[in-house]
Amino acid sequence: MGKEEKIDNMIVLDWHMPGSFDPALYIISIGKTRFSLDLVRETGVFAVNFMAREFEEQVMFCGSNTGLKFDKYKETGLTPIDCEKIDCKYVKEAEAVLECEVIDEFETGDHVCFVGKILKFHTFGNKPRLLHLGGRDFTTTR
Ligand SMILES: Cc1cc2nc3c(=O)[nH]c(=O)nc-3n(C[C@H](O)[C@H](O)[C@H](O)COP(=O)(O)O)c2cc1C
Repeated sequence: MGKEEKIDNMIVLDWHMPGSFDPALYIISIGKTRFSLDLVRETGVFAVNFMAREFEEQVMFCGSNTGLKFDKYKETGLTPIDCEKIDCKYVKEAEAVLECEVIDEFETGDHVCFVGKILKFHTFGNKPRLLHLGGRDFTTTR
């Protein structure tokens, strides 16, 4: 995230949801210990990538390793692409992507919720999307 920072990182999030139709808002929840927390705070943007089942292994890597130690794009082979509306990358292999600008944040215990205004919505494919059940178990949206 953030061309100025020269760090393009990926975090895996179970905790995310739509926040409003009008304006179009999307909310993500990031743990206070995560490296990604300050990246989102400093850049004021984030992209949400919805991934298909075939990328389960790469998703688990991104959700089990920190961007402090790894270049997760390099390690997983996923492809970073410049977002259209924000200074951030999205994942080329994603089925759908939201480009969001942070308009608010609030703390919820050990996590911070970021409210993002959706500036661009991409749909690239229609494969069933990964849904996390717990531990290493996943299912898909259909
Ligand atoms: C399936 C899955 C779901 C996760 N959901 C969340 C979440 O909702 N919020 C969060 O802060 N961390 C979540 N995590 C943990 C982070 O993705 C993980 O700590 C990651 O390594 C943080 O990366 P970073 O240090 O580069 O920010 C999840 C991990 C997995 C595997």
